[in-house]
Amino acid sequence: MTLEELAVQFTALRQEFAQASLSAQTAKELEAARVKYLGGKSAVTQAMKQIPAFPPEQRGAVGKLANEFKRDLETQFAERRQALESARIVSALDVTLPGRMVPQGRLHPITQTIDAILSLLVPMGFEIIEGPELELEYYNFDALNIPRDHPSRESFDTFFVDLPSPEPKRGRPLLRSHTSPVQIRVMQQRKPPLAIVVPGKVYRPDPLDPSHSFMFHQIEGLVVGERVAFTDLKGLLDRFLKTLFGAATKTRFRPHFFPFTEPSAEVDIACTSCGGKGCATCGRKGWLEIMGCGMVHPNVFKAVKYDPSRMQGFAFGMGVERMAMLRHGITDIRLFFENDLRFLEQF
Ligand code: PHE
Repeated sequence: MTLEELAVQFTALRQEFAQASLSAQTAKELEAARVKYLGGKSAVTQAMKQIPAFPPEQRGAVGKLANEFKRDLETQFAERRQALESARIVSALDVTLPGRMVPQGRLHPITQTIDAILSLLVPMGFEIIEGPELELEYYNFDALNIPRDHPSRESFDTFFVDLPSPEPKRGRPLLRSHTSPVQIRVMQQRKPPLAIVVPGKVYRPDPLDPSHSFMFHQIEGLVVGERVAFTDLKGLLDRFLKTLFGAATKTRFRPHFFPFTEPSAEVDIACTSCGGKGCATCGRKGWLEIMGCGMVHPNVFKAVKYDPSRMQGFAFGMGVERMAMLRHGITDIRLFFENDLRFLEQF
């Protein structure tokens, strides 16, 4: 046989094998086809044995032809075997059976609200920072212009922690009663300008009722620079609240007092239930108190060694549970902490 004849024969055998393998309906039939075309008595094995009979300059070409042929058939064989196996599995499955429900997890509504708020503030240029929940008196109070024995300290009822202070000159350890101490920690470490938002848990010894919990979440904001004005604060919060609660939301800034800001304000939005007419949700006032804010007090800048004659800043702080309750029409804060799946699965 010549090299050309061999090539023609292999081409024919390839087609024969393709047909045989396609018509094989079981692994056994397929194996029979493999033995016939690739086994000891097959044409390709014969050709391999005949290699020494070819002229030396053709032996390489014959070997190459035979090997290509073998590889080709082996691939076809493997593919067909795979197809037969899949078909066998599928025919053993009852695809009409109903599926099994896979329980789907979800983020807690408080986490979802924190994410929603941060994802509005981050594109405005705020950086997310976190601080410790176990704080020292100095950060929670003194550096925020709330001196010891000052009556304003009482408006922040506090859980003190019965542990030795790691830094006695910074006072006793406590569970932070607001996120404002993180303002101090960040300003002590960095130079202005800065714009940060601080989400986190805060603690106050309030008895549990529909609107109080001993642990809740706040988001604090702080902007410091050489030209930061109250109008910037107003514009920012107005835009923020309209984005969160809808473009038609009316906002109002009411003078207030915080020791660490001057001037200070509380921000109200027109009641989300009655639109301002007065109802049970807003206590007939038509407005809902939504956060505290103000211009950073010069004494706070002094505490962190910023020059109050050059630096200006504003800060704001909001309660996350309150925001979540307004967004979703929830009337009892305790629902967030009972972890009843019938509640959580609704978000
Ligand atoms: N820390 C204040 C509170 O918990 C909120 C606040 C933050 C007010 C920043 C003004 C500026 O009530």
